[in-house]
Formats: sequence, structure tokens, C-alpha cells
Amino acid sequence: MDFSIKACDWNKGPANGFSTAKSDCIVIGVFESQPLSGAAREIDKATQGLLSRIIKAGDMDGKNGSTLLLHEVAGIGAARVLLVGLGKQAAFTQKAYGDAVRAAWRALLTTKIAQVAFTLAQLPVQERSADWCVRAAIIALRDLSYKFTQMKSLADHGARALKRVVFSVDLADEKRARIGAKHGAALGNGMDLTRDLGNLPGNVCTPTYLANTAKKLAKDWGLKVEVLGQKRLEALKMGSFLSVTRGSVEPPQFIVLQYQGAAAKAAPVVLVGKGITFDSGGISLKPGEGMDEMKYDMCGAGSVLGTLRAVAEMGLKLNVVGIIPTCENMPAGNATKPGDIVTSMAGLTIEVLNTDAEGRLILCDALTYATRFKPAAVIDIATLTGACIIALGHHNSGLFSKDDALAGELLDASKEACDPAWRLPLDDEYQEQLKSNFADLANIGGRPAGSVTAACFLSRFTEAYPWAHLDIAGTAWKSGAAKGATGRPVPLLAQFLIDRAGQ
Ligand code: BES
Ligand code: MN
Ligand code: ZN
Repeated sequence: MDFSIKACDWNKGPANGFSTAKSDCIVIGVFESQPLSGAAREIDKATQGLLSRIIKAGDMDGKNGSTLLLHEVAGIGAARVLLVGLGKQAAFTQKAYGDAVRAAWRALLTTKIAQVAFTLAQLPVQERSADWCVRAAIIALRDLSYKFTQMKSLADHGARALKRVVFSVDLADEKRARIGAKHGAALGNGMDLTRDLGNLPGNVCTPTYLANTAKKLAKDWGLKVEVLGQKRLEALKMGSFLSVTRGSVEPPQFIVLQYQGAAAKAAPVVLVGKGITFDSGGISLKPGEGMDEMKYDMCGAGSVLGTLRAVAEMGLKLNVVGIIPTCENMPAGNATKPGDIVTSMAGLTIEVLNTDAEGRLILCDALTYATRFKPAAVIDIATLTGACIIALGHHNSGLFSKDDALAGELLDASKEACDPAWRLPLDDEYQEQLKSNFADLANIGGRPAGSVTAACFLSRFTEAYPWAHLDIAGTAWKSGAAKGATGRPVPLLAQFLIDRAGQ
């Protein structure tokens, strides 16, 4: 898909040729109970009052999310006009804009329309600029047009027709809007990668597959990559990570990807992603129902790879390190058993009371390893606890941090990126639940506040740097008829990095 920007002033007649330029369809917004303005007013004039007559007839009332496609419209360059209801202008928030934009794309994606002139990003969205509007529209379109067909052998006849979108923006916004379009496309590509990796089955997307994906990313985007195997992990004394992979025949991999966009000595942001390519629970075997969805237990890792791809394509001026511990969690005669005690890289001993609480066991060693980069901040991303879904459902990712400034930055980024997160507590009182009679700590803290105690466990390994944890168990993928990876929280992470880079 190709996205471009064209500056135009609707107060000056045909708007620098925007209304007369050839396209398959021009997308026009209509506010509820309000006279036509901007692009709508000009298209109305150029079509001898066609829009006014349609509104008067009651066929388009401007209700947010409503659409009406008009064919064979004379007087303008576009062959069709798609009218999109925006709701009341006083309530035109980023959410209302997003709803209207999605309705527009949905309507267009059911047609054979290939080239679109899109004017909605030029509308006055409360507290948001034109470049934000362009970027949000591109991400919404990429999200809605994503399809996962890699594993189908039968030809897919439903190929998307939409190929090219030209966004109109005000003259003063042109430069920023171009950056918005570039960022939007980069984010779309990053999210697609994250979604593909998540949707691939566990027998294809193995730890080795993730390592090869990282190597390819490094080659394509000029990143530095290192992949540590079993022997190196033993030498590093990652006893906790290695305890999880014991029952699997797939070799574990420890991926380190480095993007350098700033001076070599500038402290990097480190992203650590949970990469369990299949979580059977191990000896603490999970029930069978829905177990297939545990192929998604590497979505944290996928989001790190997708974010790094986006960061590299955007060319952000900061340093980012991605660390991915990846393995399978399987039962076997030699698998770790409940009650086993393992020693982490940090030296803390851990009593594994439940082998299904494996995410924290691989992450703690990766978090210890992160220390060597003297990070400005470390953020780990993990499908860590079912309890997070009970707490927050499927809308908000769980955010944990003792650092108010870092938590604030991440919450701001999540709002701006329409990728919501909600902060949950991390008070020391909860640490009590991780006490073990036999080791330094246990890997589970009982049923109360399961997501909090999981985060508390990780916090024990993160004292050397500012740290935040994102539990994406409820947001990384959808179940049911729409089963599939969402690409979250790539928008949140990318926005956080865009803000840190000041771009
Ligand atoms: N990967 C799961 C968490 C999960 C479960 C994410 C369902 C999304 C949907 C994690 O490894 C796990 O099994 N956690 C256990 C922890 C428990 C044993 C303390 C859980 O949430 O049940
Ligand atoms: Mn598990
Ligand atoms: Zn897991």
C-alpha cells in the first residue's frame, strides 16, 4: 500500500487540484446537525449541491460510523464519494475520529476501489494534530486489511483492492504529516511482523525460527545481532531460563538485537520479550481446552521484533536493545518438576512450585543479562498471567513499575497510540506471597493478585535500572471467531520510543 500527502486549502476553490484529481473515490466527513464545512462544502459546491440534497433527504445524518457510498458523481475528479458520519463536532475526540476512520476503511475494503483521496485527517480532532491523524488512519487501515494466509494451501481470492491513499492536509501541516505517514507505514510493517510471528503455529515458529527472524531483521535493517545457544547460556549460569527448556527437544535461543540510532555511548532503552513458542504448562500441564492458543505465548518476543523493525524503518535517533529469551515449555521425563529448586543468573535460588509459571523464570535471567547494557530504561513485555485477563479483560495491557516517571511516559504513549494500558500496583507488601521455605523465593504467590505477584517476582531482578513490565496476556491476541494476533503493544512501545527520541 502506498500513502502520500497533498497539502490543500479548501477555502481556495478546488483546493490545489485535490477535488479535481483523478481517483476511484474521495472520502468526505459529515458532522451531525451542522452545516457542511471544509472539504464537504467544496465537494458539495462542485457537485451542484448533491451532498446537501442527500443530507436533506435523510440518507446521511452524520451519526458517527455511518457511511454512504455515492457512484458516478459528476463535477469532481473522483469517480465515487464516500460520505462518513463523524458525530457531533463538539465530541470529535481521538476516539470518535478513530471510529469514523475505521468505518470508512471498512466500507472501502468491501469494494474494488484501489485509489482513494482521503480528507478525514484534515478534520479538527480534539487535542490531536494532522500528523497524528494521518498516522492513526494508516495504522487503522493496515490493521483492518491484515490477513494471515501463509499456512493456507488453497488460493486466497479475497485479495485487497485498496492500493493507494492520498491524504489531504492543511498547508502548514504538510511536513509533519509526511513524517506521520512514514511512521504509520513503519508501524504497520512492525505490527504485521508481530502478528505473523504470533499467528504462526508452534511447530513452525520455534525458538530457532525466532532467532532466524532476528538475524534476517538485522541483515535487512543494519542491526547488530547475537544469538546465544545452550552452551553459552550454561556458561552464563542462566539456571532459571534453562530449567524451563529442559523438557523440550527444540533448542533454546537467547536473542540480542541492537539498534544504534544515537551515539554509541548513549544509554539504550532495553526491551525484553517473553518468547515461549509453546506453553503446555510443563509437568504442571494445562487443561486441553484452548491450549492451542499457547502458541501465542511468544507475543512479547514478537512485539520486540516488530517494534525494532518499526524503529529501524523510522530511523529514530536513540539506541534500542531487544533481548528475547525463547524456548518451549514442555513435559518430559527430564522436565523440571514442581518442588525443584533452580539457581538464577543473579544467584537467587527459586523454588519452582508450578512449572506453568515459566515466563518469569525465563525473563528473570534476561533481566539480569540486561544490566550489562547500562540501560536508560528496561521494559519487559510478556503474556505473563491469566490473572491479568481476569483483572483487565482484553482492552488494557497491565502496566507495572515502581518508577512513576517511566510509568507516566508509558501511559502517555499508550493514550497517544490508542493502545491502552492500565497501571496496577507493585507494593512491597505483595512480596510476602513469594516466600519459600526452601529457596530464596518461590515462582508463584497463590491466587490473590496473581499478576501483581508475577510482577513482584520480576522486580527482584531489576534493581539496577528504571524498569517497567507490560502484561499483555489479554491484549496480544483475540480468541473466538476472530482468533488472531493483534500486534499490540507495538504501537505503545513505538510511541514511547518516538517520544524518547524527540521525533
Ligand atoms: N502463558 C501463561 C499466561 C497466560 C494464560 C496468558 C492464558 C494468556 C492466557 C503463563 O505462563 C501461565 O501459565 N501463567 C499461569 C501462572 C500460574 C501458574 C501462577 C497462569 O496464569 O495460570
Ligand atoms: Mn505457563
Ligand atoms: Zn506462559
